[in-house]
Amino acid sequence: MDGKEFRQALGRFSTGVCLITVNDRDSGALALTANSFSSVSLDPPLILWSIQNNSECFREYTENEYFAFSVMASDQAALSGKYARRGEHAVEPAEFSNNTHDVPLLNGAIAHFSCRLFALHEAGDHHIVVGEVLDFQTADGAPLLFSNGQYDELASVAK
Ligand SMILES: Cc1cc2nc3c(=O)[nH]c(=O)nc-3n(C[C@H](O)[C@H](O)[C@H](O)COP(=O)(O)O)c2cc1C
Repeated sequence: MDGKEFRQALGRFSTGVCLITVNDRDSGALALTANSFSSVSLDPPLILWSIQNNSECFREYTENEYFAFSVMASDQAALSGKYARRGEHAVEPAEFSNNTHDVPLLNGAIAHFSCRLFALHEAGDHHIVVGEVLDFQTADGAPLLFSNGQYDELASVAK
């Protein structure tokens, strides 16, 4: 199978974009851009994402009990790019507010999900991280989209 063509085919599935955050005892507060978010279960409330095994933040995202998802708004593409760069995962405190477990939540996001690590599954060159949702908030606003390898926004919003 051609890896590049496979990635391009996967990119046909349009998604939202999240920042996944943790507050690690040694590395401090971190944010990483991800579009592998998916809902899993309503009862108990479970959501998942998958992390590359070779991420420089792999330990922090798979060993910490608490983490959070911030669903990004359409005007946050620059922040998505920033937290997708290797070596650029330390959070800028002015951009975040901490939840009750001291995990950063992105200001201006259209939803926050505060989670406790529920399960971790090996899956090829990624691990699937399942979180139990402890708390969530929503805010009005248009979502940031990722489609065919590019940022986009809903046509109904762009017009
Ligand atoms: C739109 C977008 C979605 C991404 N989704 C994921 C993801 O679901 N899982 C993941 O491990 N990395 C994802 N990445 C890559 C990470 O954000 C980041 O680029 C990568 O982890 C950098 O390597 P590092 O973790 O070693 O710093 C995504 C990047 C972008 C731009």
